[in-house]
Amino acid sequence: MSTTDITPGLPVAIDELVAELTLDEKALLLEGVDSWRTNAIPRLGIPSLVLTDGPHGVRMVRDDGGAFGVGDSRPSTAFPTSATVAHSWDPEHARRMGAAIARECRDFGVDVLLAPGVNIMRNPLCGRNFEYYSEDPLVSGVFGSAFVQGVQGEGVATSVKHFAANSNEDYRFVGDSLVDERALREIYLRAFERIIREARPATVMCAYNRLNGTFCSDHRELLTDILREEWGFDGVVMTDWGAMHDRVASLEAGCELDMPGEVAHNREAIIAAAREGRLDSEVLDEAVRRMLRLIERATSTAAQPAHPHDPAAHAALARDIATDSAVLLANDGTLPLDADAASGSLVVVGELFENMRFQGAGSSLILPPEVVSPRDAFDRRGVAYTYARGYRTLTAERDAALEREAIEAAKAAGTVLFFGGLDDFEESEGFDRAHMRLGAPQVALLRELLDTGAQVVLVLFAGAPVELPFADELAAVLDLALPGMHGGEAAAALLFGEANPSGKLTETWTHTAADASSAADYDRGPVAQYAESIYVGYRFHDKAGTALRYPFGHGLSYTTFEYRDLDVRVSGDRVEVSATIANTGDRDGAEVVQLYVRNNDGAVFKAEQELRAFTKVNVVAGASERVTLSFDLADLAYWDVADHDWVLEDGEYEIRLTASAADIRLTAPLVVDRGRTSRSPYPADVDADYAMPPPGIPASFPALLDRPVSDPGRPGRLTFETRLADATRSVIGRLMLGAVLARVRKQFRAAQAMPESAERDAKLKAAHFVLRMMPSMSLRSLAMSSSGVMPYSLAAGLADLAAWHPIRGLRRILGRPVPLAPAPVTAPIEEPTR
Ligand code: BGC
Repeated sequence: MSTTDITPGLPVAIDELVAELTLDEKALLLEGVDSWRTNAIPRLGIPSLVLTDGPHGVRMVRDDGGAFGVGDSRPSTAFPTSATVAHSWDPEHARRMGAAIARECRDFGVDVLLAPGVNIMRNPLCGRNFEYYSEDPLVSGVFGSAFVQGVQGEGVATSVKHFAANSNEDYRFVGDSLVDERALREIYLRAFERIIREARPATVMCAYNRLNGTFCSDHRELLTDILREEWGFDGVVMTDWGAMHDRVASLEAGCELDMPGEVAHNREAIIAAAREGRLDSEVLDEAVRRMLRLIERATSTAAQPAHPHDPAAHAALARDIATDSAVLLANDGTLPLDADAASGSLVVVGELFENMRFQGAGSSLILPPEVVSPRDAFDRRGVAYTYARGYRTLTAERDAALEREAIEAAKAAGTVLFFGGLDDFEESEGFDRAHMRLGAPQVALLRELLDTGAQVVLVLFAGAPVELPFADELAAVLDLALPGMHGGEAAAALLFGEANPSGKLTETWTHTAADASSAADYDRGPVAQYAESIYVGYRFHDKAGTALRYPFGHGLSYTTFEYRDLDVRVSGDRVEVSATIANTGDRDGAEVVQLYVRNNDGAVFKAEQELRAFTKVNVVAGASERVTLSFDLADLAYWDVADHDWVLEDGEYEIRLTASAADIRLTAPLVVDRGRTSRSPYPADVDADYAMPPPGIPASFPALLDRPVSDPGRPGRLTFETRLADATRSVIGRLMLGAVLARVRKQFRAAQAMPESAERDAKLKAAHFVLRMMPSMSLRSLAMSSSGVMPYSLAAGLADLAAWHPIRGLRRILGRPVPLAPAPVTAPIEEPTR
């Protein structure tokens, strides 16, 4: 039952319902009945809620089909993904997109949209960066907040995810993110904090991983002390799908809803703990009240008239956002192409020209009603071109015949447009990239095309940075990122100069993954040491002086902008910075103006500069506009680990108005004298190691962390919390992995056997996503996320068997009561070597 079928609100007051509900019903209310609905209690007129992904469209699943319904959903608008929208630097786009998605939610009867994702892009290899906004917390927070306001303004609830420090996919189910208190506050929690305080999301989704040793689902400091007591969150915390760890501890920590649920074991744990007095009845009742408030809110809005959903308007919005978000990374003047001059000698190479990659893979995968590829858009314009496919996606094999055809065509060409990028087998939720390169067939072909002497323009489709070793030989690089279903229109409009590129990067493009700020410890194992602390992205590179491919905030235009007449005023606690932006070229265009503040030279280690405000301004050719950007003096504060609070230091700062983090146009001093004299809260070795961004893992990292680095356990053993891929020395682990993979391989092969079609593509990608994700799952995450397909008793029994507790294991598997019922082992237990 969806909330659209019921009368507004709840039949009686929430307190009365709490008094009426039985213990079993309370436990039921706090979990899903399947992947996408919560339990209803019809006896008391309490309806279920419908929840769906998110974030760049509504994924209303038709048939769960064992892969969370990925690849089998009802048609809906595929907007540009979050990483793309952020490149616009215009949060109004996130707001408009959120409102449009919410209107589609209302059509489908969706109550809660599982979005936005506001995790920090800690490393370019994270497979899920395309779903996040930025490496910078201000950009992430501003965009996330606008998106939430857009969605909730139309009466649909949001779920801000994944709370918190969820920065990789390879270890997401079992990993422990070790983050020092200051980096946590300044970098990883800051976007969440802004969104909670400013946009009041109805729900928050906790992450799979552990944070400093405790699973996020059970993390009281995170979910109660910080989220509710400090920031004032008054909604519901739900788990990510299968992220529940210890059901009773999670309730005490402030996590109400267990999704996708249908885990009898957890329900029983609540009931037993309540009966035995181990779970305070007030804790349980408060969780139930919060769920009922969410249901009441959702049902009340569902009964109100919705704005009509206009598919054509949404498609146009997707196109406009994509156009405004594309980033011109390089240009020697070849772009824009003159459609007339190009006709005849324009050669287009690359499968993505006709089979555009417009979104990422995984739980966010949308099936749009139509896709407009660059080829469609060229044809609509009557552009004359010769097309050669050149390479195939979804394979690492080169195709000699396709390459020959492309090279022959290039020889006769004036300009070659090469459409390249990543495919869904390379970049996806569920696993991380192993490197930052484009696929081997594309790299080889690009090399050969450049060797013909042709002028090559690279048009890129990728959700995260890629290596461009040949960048200096390219005539231009236009990055569409993952532009949504009408990305082809955006590409054509920009290539032919109908629109002027005005996007800028919200993540740094290093030359290789080895240059990334977290390269010292990324995906090395289940224990992730965030040893770079606050030095994430440009905060690292600006100070370390890393040679970069493209800096944070970089993006070119077909026109030029001059910055002048800087004026800085401090009024009360607010700093107002104005300047004139003049369009000195001959085309109308928009400029993204960034305001960084260079930090004081105090005793506390700081990044060289930090983004404090930004704006985007349209300026007609030859004209100029006055812009004003502002921030609170309090924004300059750092998180002090002795005070456990924000501290503003006195000293000399510098206002920098820039066109990118590396392109500083105007500066002015800013003296702060209403703060506190600078003094370091750290031990001397931390101060010494962190005065500059650390190139590796400093010896003082445990001191910075204020706790020992956790032990990753003995490799190769199977425990309840081991990735199946890592249980290589356990027979049961290997059998388990083999069994789950066999099941998904079948789905993959079935998809492969289908005739070429969009449906085949979607099914193939969905199966591949699960296939690649399975090895990262643990027995626990499998049991928790399978909606009953892998019963908890079986998973726990297998963990017992692997730990050489055969009797207990068999009893569990057979569903018999286990006498002492200890929790399944989470610490590795050594198997005797035979
Ligand atoms: C993802 C979430 C998503 C959920 C439901 C999880 O695997 O991490 O972002 O909302 O699945 O599809």
